[in-house]
This record gives sequence, C-alpha cells and structure tokens, in this order.
Amino acid sequence: MSTEREERGGRQSTHEPERTEQPGLAAIPRPPEGDYEWVYLWHWPIRAMHWVAAVAIVALVVTGFYIGAPYFMTTGEPANHYLMGWMRFIHFAAAGLLVATGIVRVYWLFVGNKFESWRALFPFRREDWVNMWKIVKHYMMVGDEEPEYMGHNPIQQISYTGLYAVTVVMVLTGFAMYGQANPDGFFYAAFSWVNGLLGGVQYTRLVHHVLTWVFLIFIPIHVYLTIRAELTESTGTVSSMVSGGRFLPRDQEFVDEE
Ligand code: HEM
Repeated sequence: MSTEREERGGRQSTHEPERTEQPGLAAIPRPPEGDYEWVYLWHWPIRAMHWVAAVAIVALVVTGFYIGAPYFMTTGEPANHYLMGWMRFIHFAAAGLLVATGIVRVYWLFVGNKFESWRALFPFRREDWVNMWKIVKHYMMVGDEEPEYMGHNPIQQISYTGLYAVTVVMVLTGFAMYGQANPDGFFYAAFSWVNGLLGGVQYTRLVHHVLTWVFLIFIPIHVYLTIRAELTESTGTVSSMVSGGRFLPRDQEFVDEE
C-alpha cells in the first residue's frame, strides 16, 4: 500500500501527531494514532487555479452585485470618480482571470493524476453512491461510519462539478451581455445565441444575477466544511491546497486508493 503512495511522490513521515491539550477543542475527535505519510495529490496548476479562481469569484460577486444595484455612492462628477466604470473594469478583468483558470482546469482534466482527471468529476461507481449517504450522515454527525477518500469524496465530486457547470453558465451569460455593447464585435457574434436561447437579454441578466447566489451560498459552506475537516481529521486539508499533499495514516484504507 505504502509503496504505491510513495511512487506518487509522497514523502514519508513516521512521527505521531501532537496531542496538545487545547481548551475548548477537547470534544473534537483526534486523528487515529499511528504512522503518517505525506501523499502528494494536487499538482501546482490545480492549486494555482484554485486560488486565482477564488480571488476572481470574490471580485466578481462583489463588483457584480454593485453593477446590478450600487450599494454605496460617492459625490462628484461620475466622469471624475468613475466608480461604476472601475467596478465594471474589475468585473471584466476578473472574468478574464476566471476563464483562464477554466482553460487550465479543462487541460488538467486530461493530463492530471486520477484525483484531478475527468474520472474524478463524478461518482461513476455504485459503491460511491452508497458511500455518499454514509458521508452525508457523518457530516450531520449522526453516522459512525465515514468512508475515507484520498481525493474528493462523492459529495465533493458532485458539488465541485456542479459549481463548474454554474461557472460555465456565468461565463456564457456574462459574455452574452458584454457583447451587447458592440454589435460589430467578436463577443456579440460569438455569444448572442445565449440571449436567443434564454428568451432575450433581460433573461440572460436574470440568470446571471440569480446564479450569483450559488457562489454566495457555496463559499461559506465550502470554507466551513474545509475547516471542519482540518480540525476533525488533522490530515492537513487546508494546507493541501498550498503544498499539494495531505498526511494520511499509513494503515488506513481509502476507497479511491487503487
Ligand atoms: C462567478 C462569476 C460571476 C459572477 C458571480 C458575476 C456576477 C454578476 C452580477 C451579480 C451582475 C449584476 C447583474 C444584475 O443584477 O444586473 C453581473 C453583471 C455583469 N457581468 Fe458578471 N458575474 C460573473 C462572471 C461574469 C463573466 C465571466 C462575465 C464575462 C465578461 C461577466 C460579465 C458581466 C456583464 C457584462 C454584466 C453587466 C454589466 C453591466 O451591465 O454593465 N460576468 N455579474
């Protein structure tokens, strides 16, 4: 078992986890004792695109809601302070960044390891659907059994792929609106079909606006679950998006190991 992990580039670590007494955190389950090994899961393009996309999405939500309904104002001539102009500029610049991260992600679906590839986008196996229910119960703290995955578990697979799908719709509706400013331009020619499909540009705007809430709802849940995993599993979930690897108990079985 460990040999295969080591082949993937995992470094070994044989120390036992520190068990310092932390007031207030006493009830938090500790990771199982034993040997841990560092397993490399996420290559740098995936980690880079994750953080660039995170910054871009926050900028898009903040500026997008401002474009839709300006929630603060300033005094003076609009042409001088150019507030809405800057908001729109930041929105479009962040949109460009987001598209760039999308291109990296699509490329990595075909060259990445098994945790990053298109095979990990969706729980294709029946076993994963059975595990999904166990994991839901575990998240709700009513189930004792938690099937362990080294990469993304089935709930993560479905929710991240769902977010990718929403992002695609945001990009299409965004560029469809963007193209309206210049009917002779590339974006009008390339994306106007979206307006036709949705029944007019006002519906394109509506879809773009409503789907922004998906990100607004996703972000706190994602951050909560990540920090929860960090505290309850202590395998380095948060730092794995920086370093690329997690510390995994050497004697633990993982569903997606083979
Ligand atoms: C996560 C991605 C995105 C989010 C959360 C987001 C959010 C928003 C929101 C909330 C609005 C205001 C809608 C309204 O109520 O009128 C908006 C407007 C707009 N967005 Fe996005 N957006 C995203 C991606 C994009 C992309 C990729 C583009 C492509 C260029 C884009 C272009 C636009 C345009 C053109 C407008 C209208 C601007 C205007 O009327 O001046 N958006 N966006």
